[in-house]
Amino acid sequence: MVGSNKDKAYVITGPTSGIGYATALELSKHGIVILVGRNAEKLNKVKKVIEDMGKNAIPVICDVSDMNSVKKAGQQIIALRLPIAGLLNNAGIMPAKATKSAQGWDKTFATNYLGAFTLTEVLAPHLPDGANVVFIASAIEDPERKPAKIMGMKGGRYLSVAASADGNWKPGGAKMPGIDAYATSKLCVLAAAMALARENPRLHYHAVEPGITRGTKLGGEELNPIVHKVFGYLMSVIPPFSRYSSTPEKSAKTITKILTETSGKTGVYFDEKGTPMLGSVLSQDVNFQDSVVAETRALLKTI
Ligand SMILES: NC(=O)c1ccc[n+]([C@@H]2O[C@H](COP(=O)([O-])OP(=O)(O)OC[C@H]3O[C@@H](n4cnc5c(N)ncnc54)[C@H](OP(=O)(O)O)[C@@H]3O)[C@@H](O)[C@H]2O)c1
Repeated sequence: MVGSNKDKAYVITGPTSGIGYATALELSKHGIVILVGRNAEKLNKVKKVIEDMGKNAIPVICDVSDMNSVKKAGQQIIALRLPIAGLLNNAGIMPAKATKSAQGWDKTFATNYLGAFTLTEVLAPHLPDGANVVFIASAIEDPERKPAKIMGMKGGRYLSVAASADGNWKPGGAKMPGIDAYATSKLCVLAAAMALARENPRLHYHAVEPGITRGTKLGGEELNPIVHKVFGYLMSVIPPFSRYSSTPEKSAKTITKILTETSGKTGVYFDEKGTPMLGSVLSQDVNFQDSVVAETRALLKTI
């Protein structure tokens, strides 16, 4: 069983920016934070901020888009022999241009979904009973979600896990580049979280939609930083976007509450306020959820 507060450790991917950074700081109030990221310098900066708060953090280098790097990081985390009360799969990207991962897979799909799934598979057998595994999803996966619909997004464009890894999406998707890859990766994140919750009641699996969160770097690679900031501000004041608006600090509080929860709930999809919500019709289909997990395991066996 998960031990007392002072013994606990939490693993978080993508703690160097945005929602992950704010959550790492918030989580440090509840135990040791294992900071999993690709950039040693950035990780050490976060570690220093946490230590300056009088708390503890351990950096682990990992490129979550590269499954060999994820497996290695997973083994390093296990070797720490810490009682891990929670794993937060947060790292994510939403680039406009498609690129390939180390395994030659679509980088968005590999980063947002396959890496999170792989880390979970490596760590799950080593987590104590009742530990929480939380995946950061996105309501963009739902073609009926109002703000996404207004922006011309068409939800997850899933054909199969192998097709997604190859960068192929169901035709008729969004005009905005990169959105189909992002939405499909998040559809798989949500479906897998729900399937794993049914498959493994020993642990508690959840997904969180963190809200339209301004002030992060997501999707900002190709944009001028001022344009990105102004766009974020507008989303926070213009309806219907404003209804779903959040900040990294607000999202961090919600995510930390879910990650430190000991009520025994499992398989819940939460919104940015921590209220249970429903994903797309497809994401709720248990046969779909199970086939996503089965296809993912089959794909990961090929490396
Ligand atoms: N912002 C929103 O409105 C929003 C809405 C719904 C869902 N989300 C989700 O929330 C999560 C956090 O996003 P954010 O908005 O906070 O974005 P962000 O500021 O860009 O942070 C992304 C984090 O992921 C890390 N990362 C990216 N690729 C990685 C890789 N290959 N290996 C290891 N780490 C990697 C980044 O590390 P570096 O610092 O090294 O780049 C950074 O720490 C994502 O899963 C995103 O999809 C965000």
